Amino acid sequence: MTYDASLSFIYMNTTRVVFGPGCSRDVKEEVRALGCARALVVTDSVLAKSTDIPSRIEKVLGDACAGIYSDVVPDSGVHLVDAGAAFARERGADCIVSVGGGSAIDTAKGIAIVLKEGGSLRDYEGFQVLKRPATPHVAIPTTAGTGSEVTYVAVIKDHEAHQKLLFGDYNIIPNTALLDPELTVGLPRGLTAATGMDAMSHAVESIHSQQNEPIADGLALHAIRLIREFLPRAVDDGKDLVARGQMLIASNMAGTAFSNAQVGLVHAIAHTIGARHGVHHGLANSILLPHVVRFNAGEIAGAYRPVAEALGFQVAGVSDEACAEAAARLLSELAARTGLPQTLSSQGVPESALPELAEATLADASIIYNGRAVLDADEVLGVLKAAF
Ligand SMILES: [Fe+2]
Repeated sequence: MTYDASLSFIYMNTTRVVFGPGCSRDVKEEVRALGCARALVVTDSVLAKSTDIPSRIEKVLGDACAGIYSDVVPDSGVHLVDAGAAFARERGADCIVSVGGGSAIDTAKGIAIVLKEGGSLRDYEGFQVLKRPATPHVAIPTTAGTGSEVTYVAVIKDHEAHQKLLFGDYNIIPNTALLDPELTVGLPRGLTAATGMDAMSHAVESIHSQQNEPIADGLALHAIRLIREFLPRAVDDGKDLVARGQMLIASNMAGTAFSNAQVGLVHAIAHTIGARHGVHHGLANSILLPHVVRFNAGEIAGAYRPVAEALGFQVAGVSDEACAEAAARLLSELAARTGLPQTLSSQGVPESALPELAEATLADASIIYNGRAVLDADEVLGVLKAAF
């Protein structure tokens, strides 16, 4: 990596990260360590119906459990956050324990805001709006993943406007993350692959961000190495506890990286496609990532030299442009190896929608950090057509 003499940055990493098989059983002690007495468990409806994970968490919380709010659905909405906060208040909760993937953890971040500040989540959209920490939050991810257990961002859908709203605030970073590989062994193959490639997108987007810096780069590069090695293993054998654990760590590292360096064009497009066509976030990122690498390489090919190396490519004596192309190819091959579809057309996105999607992507906040400045909708359209 090269950094110029004017490099300056702020690095934040405030979450207490606990890793280990079975560590989620310590959730009550972690809630108490935050000075809290009663935690509301926030989880998604599928996890609550198809697994006993939320009820196991409820059981170990015992008298420190204020109840379970299990209404979260993929692409959770503002109304679910507001209803969850009302439920938390009614139950006298002073802490949130989120159990699930990005939607559950992001919904919990929203509830933590509204429980503390009142009103509706809509009142707090934007960046650094809060003046004080939100309600204490222990996050227990069951995917690897969004990295949401350690990031300062929540993405919540406004179902009326068909838009994903961004809440970026250091006051919503979860206080504690419990990374328990035993909780991800039941994750289906397709979700393991898609969420794993979401983590890969966080790592690569951190590196090609305009806001990249050495600490985040270090975390992102090691996350790339771990995902390259352990995602195929986790997909092939969901019960491989080592692979599951390393993927949780990689997701966490990539999450910390992008919570500092930000994401870019991949996420800007994925947010738009997710909001309008319901394409799974990780899958959308996986499809778009190689094409954004190729687009960015037109101006910042050098950013992909360490990425290619972390993906196992021998970079010595090879041009930056060839390294970038190798990175794009290896990312496609990894996605294919995990069984993920590779085109937007396979996900029901109509070709006629691409110009409008390109236009709408320009309004997504992530786009401003992309390493290559995106000048107009035509440039986004080029990426969309390549990924179609
Ligand atoms: Fe993501």
